[in-house]
Amino acid sequence: MEKTHKVLILTGGGDCPGLNAVIRGIAKRARKEKNWEVYGSIEAFNGVFNEPQEIVRLTSRRTAGIHIKGGTILKTTNKSNPLKFPLPQADGTVKFIDRTDELVKKLKALKFDAVINIGGDGSQKISKVLFDKGIPIVGVPKTIDNDLSATDVTFGFQTALQIATDSFDKLVTTAESHHRTMIMEVMGRDAGWIALHTAIAGGAEVCLIPEIPYDINKIVKRINLRYKKGRGFVNIVIAEGAKPKEGTITASAGEKGSEHVRLGGVAYQLSKQLKDAGCKAEIRETVLGHVQRGGSPVAYDRVLASLFGVKAFDLVLQKKFGVMVAFRNNDFIDVTLDEATRDYNFVKKDSYLVRAAKGLGISFGD
Ligand code: F6P
Repeated sequence: MEKTHKVLILTGGGDCPGLNAVIRGIAKRARKEKNWEVYGSIEAFNGVFNEPQEIVRLTSRRTAGIHIKGGTILKTTNKSNPLKFPLPQADGTVKFIDRTDELVKKLKALKFDAVINIGGDGSQKISKVLFDKGIPIVGVPKTIDNDLSATDVTFGFQTALQIATDSFDKLVTTAESHHRTMIMEVMGRDAGWIALHTAIAGGAEVCLIPEIPYDINKIVKRINLRYKKGRGFVNIVIAEGAKPKEGTITASAGEKGSEHVRLGGVAYQLSKQLKDAGCKAEIRETVLGHVQRGGSPVAYDRVLASLFGVKAFDLVLQKKFGVMVAFRNNDFIDVTLDEATRDYNFVKKDSYLVRAAKGLGISFGD
């Protein structure tokens, strides 16, 4: 009798529209092969760590039609990185420990022929360490931030952009009716992709991104110009990681167990800065937050994520491990996990995208 092969899928880090489409893509492709069984670990590697373990068989019933759903059927977490696993201490502090050796031991005992880790930069750094310790692993990139340099695009980004643009359109009508200056804050961490694309798609007057620190006086000037002939209005998109040329960004402290500083609230800071700099316009702020990551993926992300899933399983069949799938120059390729985690993809100040946005009259406050 032929040996049964087993592949384990997991989703780590923040959720992102398209995760379920990847899971279904892998499962559907695997079902076309004889003797392959597909499993999922619940809540990233917690499913492997936990006693009893939480590993579920991904039958066709479990994965049918999930590509249109947001979130992840496997659940996720960004608070259990095996490289820096948070251990709450008696005094209320949190100590971070390396649990990768324990994880490798547990994964080897489970006898999976392959592991597919769907996640962003942090998750792929974990994939790299596990691969170096002997785990046959393939990475699949995900993030709404689109900040991974190894792939031209990540799934989730188009959905976030569509949600941000739809929201922006709604704010424009209020800006116009009330002659207001509306500030909309979007996600993206240290990358301005969501903000910049939303500004172009929505027709913003001002777009502030982390890659181009702004001068508040230049923004006030731009706003004043819009109100010069009387009833003007202004729409501003600001990325959560945007910063002024002088000073710092708004950042709330990290949560217990989280390695990351939580961003959010820079729209309010900008509003105050504008008033302090003499801006007379009536200003309102909207922090879009997690709605950008929620709900059903747009068609583009469903396609991209599904093809990533199929490609990931093809790599498993080829026994090509220690790589991450990527989409480059209209082609689905694989890159080493080293390359996958080396650089971030930030908006370039002198890129055509930025120059074109300026050509459309968008001010970056630079
Ligand atoms: O990386 C995706 C992202 O949505 C960022 O844009 C944002 O800063 C962060 O995750 C929010 O993380 P959390 O869901 O932990 O608040």
